Amino acid sequence: MTARRTHHCGELRAEHVGQTVTLCGWVHRKRDLGGFAFLDLRDRTGLVQVVIDPAAAPSAAAVARDLRAEFVVRLRGTVAGRGDNVNPKLPTGQIEVRADALEVLARSEPLPFPMEDEIDALETTRLAYRYLDLRRPVLQRIMMLRARAAKIARDELTERGFLEFETPILTRSTPEGARDYLVPSRVSRGSFYALPQSPQLFKQLLMIAGYDRYFQICRCFRDEDLRADRQPEFTQIDLEMSFVEPDDVMAVTDGLLARLFRETIGVEVPRPIPRLTYAEAIRRYGVDNPDVRFGLELTDVGDILGATDARFLREPHEAGGRIAALRVRGANFSRKELDELDEAVKPYGAKGVANVRVSTPAWQGGLAKFLRDGHQAALRERLELEDGDLVLAVADADPDVASTAAGRLRQHLARRLGLIRDGSWGFVWVTDFPMFERDPESKRWVAKHHPFTHPRPEDIPRLATDPSAVRALAYDIVVNGVEVGGGSIRLHEPEVQRQVFAALGMDEEEARRRFGFLLEALAHGAPPHGGLAIGFDRLVMFLAGTESIRDVIAFPKTTRAACLMSGAPSEVDAAQLAELGIDVRREP
Ligand code: AMO
Repeated sequence: MTARRTHHCGELRAEHVGQTVTLCGWVHRKRDLGGFAFLDLRDRTGLVQVVIDPAAAPSAAAVARDLRAEFVVRLRGTVAGRGDNVNPKLPTGQIEVRADALEVLARSEPLPFPMEDEIDALETTRLAYRYLDLRRPVLQRIMMLRARAAKIARDELTERGFLEFETPILTRSTPEGARDYLVPSRVSRGSFYALPQSPQLFKQLLMIAGYDRYFQICRCFRDEDLRADRQPEFTQIDLEMSFVEPDDVMAVTDGLLARLFRETIGVEVPRPIPRLTYAEAIRRYGVDNPDVRFGLELTDVGDILGATDARFLREPHEAGGRIAALRVRGANFSRKELDELDEAVKPYGAKGVANVRVSTPAWQGGLAKFLRDGHQAALRERLELEDGDLVLAVADADPDVASTAAGRLRQHLARRLGLIRDGSWGFVWVTDFPMFERDPESKRWVAKHHPFTHPRPEDIPRLATDPSAVRALAYDIVVNGVEVGGGSIRLHEPEVQRQVFAALGMDEEEARRRFGFLLEALAHGAPPHGGLAIGFDRLVMFLAGTESIRDVIAFPKTTRAACLMSGAPSEVDAAQLAELGIDVRREP
């Protein structure tokens, strides 16, 4: 049989009844029933049922006898209605294909796991046979969704006047602050390229070159500790614009996200996406990536609880710390469950969670004995308390520790109490990040975003006097408590640039050594500019509703940054190393 494929398996419908079709695909399942062979034939568009009648098509029936799962076949047949045997679960369930010719194009060894959506194979096995894992319908749907999302992003940005560029993969270290992946140069022994952590410097250079509105769907490489939503190579939708304010970049992003969510999964993104300043996010949610799908906000109660006789509250308060309280309505925690809440905050450096339950005549719980009438009245008013409410408080002399711990406690409680409604979405911008943070190791100020971020203009005078108080024109987009993207307005005036580097303790020579070409470019007519990058893999995780970034990347790596299928990273020939002038020392 030489006929070419006429249709895909998943596209046949009642309207095709009577047509002769040629299909190609994988044998998903085979059953023999009353002398007839039934095949489920699969390609990435879906499944279709094929029937082979030995009386009508004896040679096809003979071929069908030897078929096993995942053999690749081509067949010709006639589309027929299924009468009373319609399968409502299958888009093609109205019809079947009565085959009259069948040919095997490839055989398959027995499989390490079945080609089903739900399997219990170990992830290591799935990753070692990724091409089979990717053949499973659930992953095929995600990969097609990913391709569709990339196309929508391209369409939207192109329609908004953005130009698509490619920037180098073999380049110099970029300023995102993770470890670089290095590539040795053969021609210049002892010199290395760095794989880009992002195209940050190049997109800024493109603005200076006059290509207002750049975008790229690009691979970024970061050698950092991996988690469920981090990969060593990942993809960004990266964009940059000239002559803009933060509002302009956020509006473009709102439009892009709205279109992506609507056209892939039919979710309406609120426009404009609500905004919170960093300070407000920390005050109300304790973290800079708040999950705004539920309330349970933090309330400052340092002035009330810090004035009690409870040393564990008074001392942090007097040391300039924070006491943040959460009011939980209608929760009935046992003593043991209350003690377990301590474990939710300890990983973030807090010592524990104080609790008290509002009740008449006397309040109950660990905090109760420290609360005089005045404290109770003040708490009642501040937290709008009713009988039965539980008050939880987290205190620490370091306000950042108290905030983070209380914020994590909030998330823990939301999960425990089922406060997040299925199918709800929480989109929020967090703006005005601090420009700098203290690096605990070097005790130096480091850039929170990156060193090319523009301070808020009114904060520029504080660069020299109080770097901790300088806010940046930087913004993150947060979805359901996950940072999906971030960006900023960039420095383009050499004088402000110099002051920022000085605050970072970077002298002119170090700055020249690291970013000389950008500094040089900034001195040649740089327009004001800014942009942002969305973590495309994280975005697709949301669209696909999956918890693991490995589900949305065709060939992902393990948390040890290894590819179990190809065996990368691997040793290389001694000759290759010699050519590069590299000796490998094996001990750590
Ligand atoms: P940033 O470092 O915030 O910004 O990165 C932007 C987004 O990329 C995603 N992301 C990751 N996704 C998967 N695995 C990783 N290892 C990983 N690291 C980051 C996150 C993040 O929000 N050049 C700036 C952007 C700019 O200022 O325009 C940048 O790269 O979703």
